[in-house]
Amino acid sequence: MNEYDGQVAVGILGHEGFQITPDESQADVVLMNTCSVREHAEERVYSRLGMLGKAKRQNPHLIVGLMGCMVEEHRENLFRRFPQLDLMVGTRNIKELPTLIKEVEKNRRQVARIKQDGISIEYTELIQRTSKYHAWLPIMTGCNKVCTFCIVPITRGAEVSMPAREVYREASRLVGEGVRWITLLGQNVNSYMGRSPIPMIGDRKHLSNLTFERADVNSYNGEGVSFPALLEMLCQIEGLERISFTTSHPSDATEELFQVIARQPKISRRFHLPLQSGSDLILKRMKRLHTYIDYRKKIERLRELVPDISVTTDIIAGFSGETEEDYQATYRALEEIRYDGAYIFKYSVRPGTPAGKLPDDVPFTVKEDRNHELLALQKKIMAEKNRSWVGRSTEVFVEGPSPKRPEELIGKTPQEKKAVFRGSKELIGTFQKVTLLDVKDETFLGSLAALCES
Ligand code: 5AD
Ligand code: SF4
Repeated sequence: MNEYDGQVAVGILGHEGFQITPDESQADVVLMNTCSVREHAEERVYSRLGMLGKAKRQNPHLIVGLMGCMVEEHRENLFRRFPQLDLMVGTRNIKELPTLIKEVEKNRRQVARIKQDGISIEYTELIQRTSKYHAWLPIMTGCNKVCTFCIVPITRGAEVSMPAREVYREASRLVGEGVRWITLLGQNVNSYMGRSPIPMIGDRKHLSNLTFERADVNSYNGEGVSFPALLEMLCQIEGLERISFTTSHPSDATEELFQVIARQPKISRRFHLPLQSGSDLILKRMKRLHTYIDYRKKIERLRELVPDISVTTDIIAGFSGETEEDYQATYRALEEIRYDGAYIFKYSVRPGTPAGKLPDDVPFTVKEDRNHELLALQKKIMAEKNRSWVGRSTEVFVEGPSPKRPEELIGKTPQEKKAVFRGSKELIGTFQKVTLLDVKDETFLGSLAALCES
């Protein structure tokens, strides 16, 4: 979501005549897009603010700004702590950035625009995407779950979903611009509940680039569009070839959703479903609303329906009260479920969250050891799983020249695994059948299947 907000900010500022420079020493305005999910990310921002304070002593005209979740979390307190900070813009106010910058230039006063109500999603044609063919598309923000370790309900507020009509319209607009792959975003994306159905035939004149021909537009009764229903609608947009989504919560990962994934080949074959811990005691203390067995059964069912699905997860090591036994349960969970990938984090207390009141009683070195062991186990499992793909042919979405070997192309398999292979630049933006010949680290080395067969 932060990346999307960043693309919106760049687009809006560019439209107002600001030039974007990657060279900070040349900049008149430095704007940091922040995240406060884990302590480490916040610490990096504090240290950058310290450095910018020094830069400002050399160049008093420099304007320093913050956007993103940290602004929502700390609000005006940050102005007191960092006098070098000139402006803050909340996740719901990105469009006001140009005005705020001009206000600082004029009055040299600290200014903030942080509004807590409303929806923090901006659909704007001005967005500066980094890819011509792939786009992020936020469909909901906020979260009504109460995971005790998590700051998101505080920084992003309660769940708000974009109306299905708006999502459909924006997805169609993006496809009209040449986008072929969309990743739907939301803090709790699969609890999406859109207010309005997609437009009825009579509404067509307000919209451009929509293809209703194959969509049974009248089958939605307007009482709310669930996430699986939204996915089915979006799959009907002609020219949209792949749809991914992140991040899902296990309690909203329903049979209906799995059935839609199985039915719709356009839906990505990567499913990210955070487990957080393999211990029921810890899951309960985290208020995750699922037990380990509930969770495992869901993954088993998904794999039964979609055998080639790649499943990834998030794990927190060293949550409050995590004993050696709890930790071993997580280790066993990774061994049993055999994920294709896992993000493994050391627990860090987020002040203001319910777990902020619990003792942070797992010593840092123990958290670190558990984190390392889990990472090493997961690396081994991932390598084994990736090996099992070698020799197979699969459809790869060609994204562009490989950053490491520009004479080759890079793309993603339906499981969103990276593959590099030789081929003409004209293939960029298309789907190609690639035979996976080898795998190095997490990247497959392949060859266009047509070349292999000839
Ligand atoms: N400490 C460590 N990891 C956290 N996450 C969220 N909050 C914390 C925290 N306080 C992790 C969870 C979540 C991911 C986005 O970040 O695993 O799924
Ligand atoms: Fe945070 Fe995700 Fe839990 Fe919501 S479901 S509180 S975003 S971890």
